[in-house]
Amino acid sequence: MYNEECQKEQAEQRKEEIAKVMEADQQARLKAQKVHPLNPPNLRDTLTESQLAEVAKIKWWHSIRLAKNFVTDGLCEHGLGDDVFSRFGMSKNLTGKCVADVGGWDGLFSFRAEEQGAEEVQLFEPTVDDWGNPTEAYHNGFALAKYLRDSNVEKVYSSVYEAHLHRESYFDVVMCFGVMYHLIAPLLALKSLNFMLKVGGTLLLETAVHESKHTANLPAWMVEPGKADDPTNCMYPTKAGLRKSLKAFGFAQIEELAEFPGPRVTCRAVKTGPIMGIDTRRYRGMDEIRALREKRGEKL
Ligand SMILES: C[S@@+](CC[C@H](N)C(=O)[O-])C[C@H]1O[C@@H](n2cnc3c(N)ncnc32)[C@H](O)[C@@H]1O
Repeated sequence: MYNEECQKEQAEQRKEEIAKVMEADQQARLKAQKVHPLNPPNLRDTLTESQLAEVAKIKWWHSIRLAKNFVTDGLCEHGLGDDVFSRFGMSKNLTGKCVADVGGWDGLFSFRAEEQGAEEVQLFEPTVDDWGNPTEAYHNGFALAKYLRDSNVEKVYSSVYEAHLHRESYFDVVMCFGVMYHLIAPLLALKSLNFMLKVGGTLLLETAVHESKHTANLPAWMVEPGKADDPTNCMYPTKAGLRKSLKAFGFAQIEELAEFPGPRVTCRAVKTGPIMGIDTRRYRGMDEIRALREKRGEKL
């Protein structure tokens, strides 16, 4: 009997200790990520019990502020400080801009763009990734955060490859963070990112890169399936490869903004025109080849 009571008491104590640790953890996170002055005007002071229960059902990738006193416990290490967003090249003033967030997951960067005054923000996420994995779970966090933040960010269910079919030559800024090395066809993705932007628009691209002394100046994409124990990891550009690919796909003023462990880089580039210097949509495939060969007098 005495033992039972002791065990009960100890269990209660442990529960209290855990609650204290969790509370301290939440407070530490809040302290580290002070309320941004541009937080949405209608941000709730706090979440209700039932809202907290919904939040707890989600495996958050991003740490997103859902109320003045609540930030989700995201798995990635982006955090919420100004330094983070400047590392990704995000301008503090996006007033009146149309911004796309390709592969935006829970929406941290989309919400930030909205806070910084963007007129329209669209987040693109596929329903199935390049490997056939449904991304359903990735969508719930964004939906809940959008609701709780009373946000106008719009979700578009589309892979990067088709994103330009939804909005062509439309965006002032296209952000694509942490996506390229998961893709089977990263160059096709660059084509779509080009087509999404207005001429003069800005691409912000963050990706893991391949780095070794043998490939330092090689303009290449290295095939490294499953790297870092992630079966959806696929191809990594060298820094020279990324630069050359961006150039070939109609971007100029390419700047490396930040490098960080991984190794990873963030690039800013401006869309100057069509890809590879030619308007590929005017290319008529076999007809054009036939006409060219006819002109050359070649036997068809
Ligand atoms: C590592 S997460 C990066 C999330 C977020 N952009 C960030 O930097 O925190 C990769 C994201 O790319 C998305 N993704 C994967 N394949 C994609 C595709 N073909 N088109 C667009 N997004 C894709 C995933 O669903 C996921 O949200």
